Amino acid sequence: MAPRARRRRPLPAPLALLALLGRLQVTLQITPPCTSERYYEHLGQCCKKCEPGTYMSSKCTTTSESVCLPCGLDEYLDTWNEEDKCLLHKVCDPGKALRAVEPGNRTAPRRCACTAGYHWSEDCRCCTRNAECARGFGARRPVQLNKDTVCEPCPSGYFSDTVSATETCRPWTNCTILGGTEVRHGTDKLDVVCSPLPSANPSNEPQVYLPSLIILLLFMSVALVAAVIFGVYYRKKGKALTANLWHWVNEACGRLNGNKAV
Ligand SMILES: *[C@@H]1O[C@H](CO)[C@@H](O)[C@H](O)[C@H]1NC(C)=O
Ligand SMILES: *[C@@H]1O[C@H](CO)[C@@H](O)[C@H](O)[C@H]1NC(C)=O
Repeated sequence: MAPRARRRRPLPAPLALLALLGRLQVTLQITPPCTSERYYEHLGQCCKKCEPGTYMSSKCTTTSESVCLPCGLDEYLDTWNEEDKCLLHKVCDPGKALRAVEPGNRTAPRRCACTAGYHWSEDCRCCTRNAECARGFGARRPVQLNKDTVCEPCPSGYFSDTVSATETCRPWTNCTILGGTEVRHGTDKLDVVCSPLPSANPSNEPQVYLPSLIILLLFMSVALVAAVIFGVYYRKKGKALTANLWHWVNEACGRLNGNKAV
């Protein structure tokens, strides 16, 4: 400030020229770095700014350079700066359907975007659920992240029977390829219906035979268990019976013998 004020004061011509030359020299020495975005002017001198990822904890003095300190953990500065503190990373709140697409670091800000199925709305400055396409309409592909659904009417040969924000129009079934004939034409909302297809039978067979096989196996195992139980029961009972019989025979014989002896 002081030199500028001095220049405004009228001076004798030679002196003025000298002052101008002197100033020019000084300017030539100092200006080149000072015009750079990496320098700033302070106390009539050019000093280094702080590099991205750092902030200026103290400005330069006539005897010392600027003091730069690194940003904190959740902070950043993405420019050469004279800031006295770093900027705080924004929060990508999942509760507001936001997620971080770039985590950010000391030199770059975190970037948030809406989660899948949502897009950014400038009206509410929030993530809004993507529009759903009615039946007869499909979502244009590719489904773009952070963009609202673009619904297109299904062209001839295609249909959509669902209300969805992601489903595209699907082509009608080709009955000829499947070996059947068309019994109902397709529309933009409904698929073609084919007559009973021969290829449908083989796929049905296992579904019919599997349950009956399971029932048969179940029945057989029940019969086997029953047979075993009956076998054990009757053998026990049989043994008891034989023992009783043997006892009775013995007793009878003993009695007979006794009788003879008596
Ligand atoms: C910081 O993040 C930016 C953008 O994501 C990236 O280009 C840069 O390499 C990262 N820097 C470091 C030091 O990781
Ligand atoms: C079905 O497929 C055959 C063979 O690719 C083709 O010739 C025919 O035009 C198709 N039919 C329909 C209704 O798309």
